[in-house]
Amino acid sequence: MKYPESVNILLLGSGGREHAFAWKIAQSKRLARLFIAPGNAGTVACGTNVEINPTNFASVKQFVLSNNINMVVVGPEDPLVKGIADFFKEDHQISNIPVIGPSSAGARLEGSKEFAKQFMERHDIPTAAYRSFTKKSIDEAYAFLETLKAPYVLKADGLAAGKGVLIIDSLDQAKKELASMFDGRFGRASDTVVIEEFLSGIECSVFVATDGKNFKVLPVAKDYKRVGVGDTGPNTGGMGAVSPVPFADERFMEQVVETIVKPTVAGLQADKIDYKGFIFIGLMNVSGKPYVIEYNVRMGDPETEVVLPRIESDLIELFQSMAYGKLDQYELKISPLTATTVVCVSGGYPGDYPKGFEITGLRNVTGSTVFHAGTALKGNKVYTSGGRVLAVTSLGDSITDAVAKSYASIEKIDYEGKYFRQDIGQDLL
Ligand code: AMP
Ligand code: GLY
Repeated sequence: MKYPESVNILLLGSGGREHAFAWKIAQSKRLARLFIAPGNAGTVACGTNVEINPTNFASVKQFVLSNNINMVVVGPEDPLVKGIADFFKEDHQISNIPVIGPSSAGARLEGSKEFAKQFMERHDIPTAAYRSFTKKSIDEAYAFLETLKAPYVLKADGLAAGKGVLIIDSLDQAKKELASMFDGRFGRASDTVVIEEFLSGIECSVFVATDGKNFKVLPVAKDYKRVGVGDTGPNTGGMGAVSPVPFADERFMEQVVETIVKPTVAGLQADKIDYKGFIFIGLMNVSGKPYVIEYNVRMGDPETEVVLPRIESDLIELFQSMAYGKLDQYELKISPLTATTVVCVSGGYPGDYPKGFEITGLRNVTGSTVFHAGTALKGNKVYTSGGRVLAVTSLGDSITDAVAKSYASIEKIDYEGKYFRQDIGQDLL
């Protein structure tokens, strides 16, 4: 492969996912300089943080031009849905700089649930039966709900900060919630609502890198969404993750590839959607058969914090293979070890929480890699600055082994209100 040997990269985002990306990029022999916009207190160990908002495309362009950036890697979905890849492609000054992330047309897989469902329907990809409605068709929506069995699944069509899915036990309540969605409960995001069949099973996250025609399946992971032990309490951005996932065995993954990944990549191509980026497929294992719950057009957080530590091959070469349409020639090497990450959050999260507390003990951690999420650096001290504060990742021979290391490391770290789930991976033993 004849790609540039030495590249300057601008990575967009500021969470644990971006710290994990920065950490892995920094290990590449192909890296010249890495900038992270805006980054966090952890990413400064991997490159240079720059104060740029990733959705301010004009500032991103200016930075790219004045710092001789050769590649832009997009962490979160927001800049993708807003069209950063198209912005680069259409501007002759920067059109030759690859953006790792899909065009806005591709990003609709995450940006619109209705679009994603229509895409799956068109390409015969297994997913829950559904119909979509607007306020005008509310009577039909009520009638459709009456044909379904409880629990009822209502999804705001647009991006709603991960909160736009409601799962409701009673029909009456479902009708009330539906009306409130049409009345702006999630702003414009719920002008259209997808109502779908409830799927019962266990979830996992499959990550695919694609250049638009070839693909590589990255390590599979499971995340822990709810705040409380035993998967109870409100949903969060993710309290921990494990990779690999024991139930996602070879037979299951073969079905995932044949019935979901191949038709998804072929579908993007058939629909003439430019997609050089990651596809995150949220799956439900329903009695051994995989169904798509959702697509995301980026890597998962905190899944990235267990996926990347298991990738042994060079990450910049992976990006280059994606950007230049040569993914078929990339040799993906995956570690057989198990990775776990346990997320330490601010007390009160996902509700209101205080922040700005000093984090101590980070330097005492030896057996794990601590990825920063909501942290900020002031002088040489690190402070909490968000709900999810740190993702403590460990590798081991088993879930039990890896997660014990994560918990031992967390004992060494302290800040006011530190909270974490004590049962990450336990359901998989
Ligand atoms: P989403 O934002 O689409 O990932 O939905 C959030 C969560 O709701 C998922 O992670 C699932 O736990 C759950 N969920 C979504 N759709 C369904 C469904 N059709 N059946 C059962 N659970 C679902
Ligand atoms: N861990 C789920 C997500 O990144 O959306």
